[in-house]
Amino acid sequence: MQARPEKPRLAWAVTGSGHYLKECLEIVRELDDVDLFYSRAGEEVVRMYGYDPKSLVPEGRVYRDRAASAPPVGLFYRGDYHSLVVAPATSNTVAKMVLGISDTLVTNIFAQAGKCQIPSIVLACDSEPEIDTPAPDRIVRVWPRRIDLEHTKKLKTFEATTVVDDADQLFAALKTRLTEVG
Ligand SMILES: Cc1cc2nc3c(=O)[nH]c(=O)nc-3n(C[C@H](O)[C@H](O)[C@H](O)COP(=O)(O)O)c2cc1C
Repeated sequence: MQARPEKPRLAWAVTGSGHYLKECLEIVRELDDVDLFYSRAGEEVVRMYGYDPKSLVPEGRVYRDRAASAPPVGLFYRGDYHSLVVAPATSNTVAKMVLGISDTLVTNIFAQAGKCQIPSIVLACDSEPEIDTPAPDRIVRVWPRRIDLEHTKKLKTFEATTVVDDADQLFAALKTRLTEVG
């Protein structure tokens, strides 16, 4: 296991969403003291949009979803992280988080952050009934289903969880949290 950092850092999870991917990665690149956690789809989709998943945080660690038991969750119990951001969060990951399912690296760290009372900020892709979203080669219109929107709404009721609806809100919530932790 990696050595414990001198002070708690930010954990940022990326799932397999093209929606808000560019905006999220722009914020990630501006941050210090951040480690990345990819879902398997997250790693693939990041590559499809032309980014190198390993070079986004030159100073940070990068965790990929390769093991069934999500060993990096131990880092949350050890106190390595003051907060978790899940952004962008796919319909799939949001649905699992709402149901309490932990079967990927990202859904595991969300659940375990919650159990350690570490606050999370989530940018759910499905925040509006109609969205224009970038595919790798063009813009497409998407109509999130009622169930997708219901999951986003339900996640807003979770303890220690702030759900934001766009990248500006994400930036503001993150700034507030980083000020809180000094
Ligand atoms: C190019 C591309 C873009 C995608 N964009 C989205 C998206 O914006 N929102 C979403 O919910 N799923 C999107 N998906 C589908 C997810 O990647 C897929 O549901 C995956 O199983 C999610 O796994 P994860 O939640 O573990 O990351 C996209 C897939 C591809 C190939």
